[in-house]
Amino acid sequence: MRAQTRNKKIKMTEIHSGPQAISMGVDRLRDQRLVAFPTETVYGLGANALNAQAVDHVFSLKGRPSNNPLIVHVSGIEMAKTVVQEWTPEAEKIAQTFWPGPVTMVLEKGSSVPSNVCADGSTVAVRCPAHPCALALIEAFGYPIVGPSANPSGWISPTTPEHVVDGFKDADLLVIDGGHCRAGIESTVVDLTQDSIQILRLGVVGAHELEETLGHTVSSPICRSEVDSDTDQVRSPGMIGAHYQPRTKTKLINTADLEAAKFDQALISWSIKSHPADGQLIEIPESMSDYASQIYRALHDADRHGNTEIWVEPPSINQGNTQERAIYEAVMERLKRATHA
Ligand code: TXA
Ligand code: MG
Repeated sequence: MRAQTRNKKIKMTEIHSGPQAISMGVDRLRDQRLVAFPTETVYGLGANALNAQAVDHVFSLKGRPSNNPLIVHVSGIEMAKTVVQEWTPEAEKIAQTFWPGPVTMVLEKGSSVPSNVCADGSTVAVRCPAHPCALALIEAFGYPIVGPSANPSGWISPTTPEHVVDGFKDADLLVIDGGHCRAGIESTVVDLTQDSIQILRLGVVGAHELEETLGHTVSSPICRSEVDSDTDQVRSPGMIGAHYQPRTKTKLINTADLEAAKFDQALISWSIKSHPADGQLIEIPESMSDYASQIYRALHDADRHGNTEIWVEPPSINQGNTQERAIYEAVMERLKRATHA
């Protein structure tokens, strides 16, 4: 009876918290159902990574193109070794330094991983998230789980349980409530399968930090929005063009231009404290890591209010250290793509 209640089909997306949410989540993962879970970066849309049918449900709920591979989330190095062909010395160094944490490594795929996870490619992306709920869920389930960001394809990633519900209102989906995601932007994706190590997606951990750990050069991505996706060889399909987009038209407005501008729209700003006109002012902290932590929440808030435009003041980076610069570049990459026409 208890199992029946626990396994019941959810007709509308439901938010649950605490140990009960974890055990409900595990039951659902065993049933090839979906569970949205918090990580330190954004919420993930979880399913059993070793079951092709469960993984298919993720692609169809997100509306994600099947050529865009998913990240496999693990509880630690031992589990990571079960999904890759070879656990390389570079992988060991990165995991020892940054895991659990916001670094995803692309390695040669192991045979246990269904091909749809990897979009039929030969590599797999692996990450160990630094969030107690995510780790508890993976550990209690005992197997790796896929976790693309828990938003419909192309939308802004969710950093609260409510954002997940906003994207998937009446799905058969359980959301484990782990509060607001503190890093606020997605993990750094680094490719370890080529001769030279390359970042495919910028994140809060930058090339400089990875270079210090590995002792050799790590290259940063070219701006994918400027690449012709039909002719260019795409190593990470999620990095192309328009993405991270609010439903409302969004544009960047520099601090110097703010004073003269007429605000009758939503404005996300760290420099303006009082709003002179009818629009919606969403304040965002000036410090770089807090800006990153809050930017998706601000975009979600602005998007929900039925504005016709959202204006975003970019972060300021006058004298940032290398870590702040990495976050700045990662945030600017998201903002450029949020405003991509
Ligand atoms: O912070 C994060 O990484 C979040 C949380 C939930 O862990 N997840 C996330 O997943 O952002 P998603 O699917 O939204 O983004 C994964 C990115 C995509 O750009 C995808 O193309 C790339 O990683 N990716 C996944 N597998 C890959 C692979 N085998 N080779 C190259 N790129 C890969
Ligand atoms: Mg995503």
